[in-house]
Amino acid sequence: MSSRGNFSGRIGFILAAAGSAVGLGNIWRFPYLAGQNGGAIFLMIYLGCILLLCYPIMVGEIAIGRAANSDAYGSYSKLGGRKWGYLGLFGILAGIMILSFYNVVAGWAFGYFLHISFGDLLNEPDFGGFFGTYVNDIIDLSSWAGFSNSNLVFSLIFMVLTALIVAQGIQKGIEASNKIMMPSLYAILLGIIVYSLTLPNAISGVQFYLVPEFSELKVRTIVDALKQSFFSLSLGMGALITYGSYLSKLENIPTSARVISLADTSVAFFSGLMVFPLVHFLAFKLNIDPQQIGTSGPPLIFVVLPQIFHEMGPVLGRIIGGSFFLLVCFAALTSTISLLEVPVAYLVDQKKMQRKSVVWLIALLIFVLGLPSMMSQGMVESLNKLTFYRGNDFLTFISDMSDISLTVGGCLMAIFISRRWGMDKFDEEVAQGNDRYLNSGTRKFLHFSLKWAAPILLGFLSVLIIVEKFFGVENLF
Ligand code: PFF
Repeated sequence: MSSRGNFSGRIGFILAAAGSAVGLGNIWRFPYLAGQNGGAIFLMIYLGCILLLCYPIMVGEIAIGRAANSDAYGSYSKLGGRKWGYLGLFGILAGIMILSFYNVVAGWAFGYFLHISFGDLLNEPDFGGFFGTYVNDIIDLSSWAGFSNSNLVFSLIFMVLTALIVAQGIQKGIEASNKIMMPSLYAILLGIIVYSLTLPNAISGVQFYLVPEFSELKVRTIVDALKQSFFSLSLGMGALITYGSYLSKLENIPTSARVISLADTSVAFFSGLMVFPLVHFLAFKLNIDPQQIGTSGPPLIFVVLPQIFHEMGPVLGRIIGGSFFLLVCFAALTSTISLLEVPVAYLVDQKKMQRKSVVWLIALLIFVLGLPSMMSQGMVESLNKLTFYRGNDFLTFISDMSDISLTVGGCLMAIFISRRWGMDKFDEEVAQGNDRYLNSGTRKFLHFSLKWAAPILLGFLSVLIIVEKFFGVENLF
């Protein structure tokens, strides 16, 4: 085990797995999905998905990795035979796909962090226009406030940071960096929430976020909640198989999974509590209806929030805005390192390649694979409007394909555990480090979910997501 590396203990593992989970998905996607889908009602369904489907799959993923002590491919093939190895490969490819676009968005956030903290982005007269040009001109090398205003450079730096950490290995790289970034992230998040709650009209934002709007409950709400919960908890593609493979047999898997789920869900919940008071404060300042402020998609954090930081005045705006984007960068970085670790572990374990060289090779490859996503925001027309994907852009396409691969991956993983590996072997693994597991209610619940609820519901919902994405029947839901 030591030659592959391992976490020093429970805290290191939990922080790293929570770091993987807490990411752009929590801070940017969760609040706007909740906003669009009736606030608290979305939150309730989201929590239901986590309890019934995500938590069991998370325990399953960690158990698979720890039992096999191998990467995603190696774990499936060791426990289930060569054919099942393909499911591991599918996960590894999904991870590569996710990192390719995720790093692009992380690069945008990194650029905003620099521009707000050290440049004068907050003086922009038109934040929407600025963002449009910013994501469009990926190789605009004109110097802007002392920094090169180029997305290409920002995402490259982000990928290099990711690679530098992963190259250091499990304890010195992944664990050590998470031990710094995760507590900082929580501190910044709580700081901004406290501040945003003191702003005028904040309470109306909290109300909007927390009062359930039952009329908004549609099939779409359930589909959105499910997609978001899988993406947010980094499930379905083997990230937690990989991290689990570095976990000691002495650790309690169900308890760790509970803490990880709670950590992730609390950050998502708190992000909404940070964002909505801010949005309602802006509406108050501009004397408009909050509904008029578009809070969907990337504009939420790249257009609306900068405008709010601008309203706070030059000094406070820079401090709060800079801290916010630092928070986003930390969240993204703890996730990108877990995404990079998945293919790296595969090549180190299966092809016996050297960690350091593999890391740089894969990082470069994924960076290049991200270029079409980067160029799809206006720069290249054919990527901006994909004809085979109902005129959506390439980045949206890749991000949608990722959502699909995670729920499909989760469904197949539940089938693998219950029908191939076997619930007895699963129990045996989970019982290590948890003496009371075999007679517990947790065990019964995990059996129910992994045998029935997860395969059936995930299978059904995956089909719905695919139909929705490819045939554009979203209006039917
Ligand atoms: N959980 C991350 C987020 O919410 O941003 C995204 C992610 C990271 C998905 C790692 C999958 C993964 F393996």
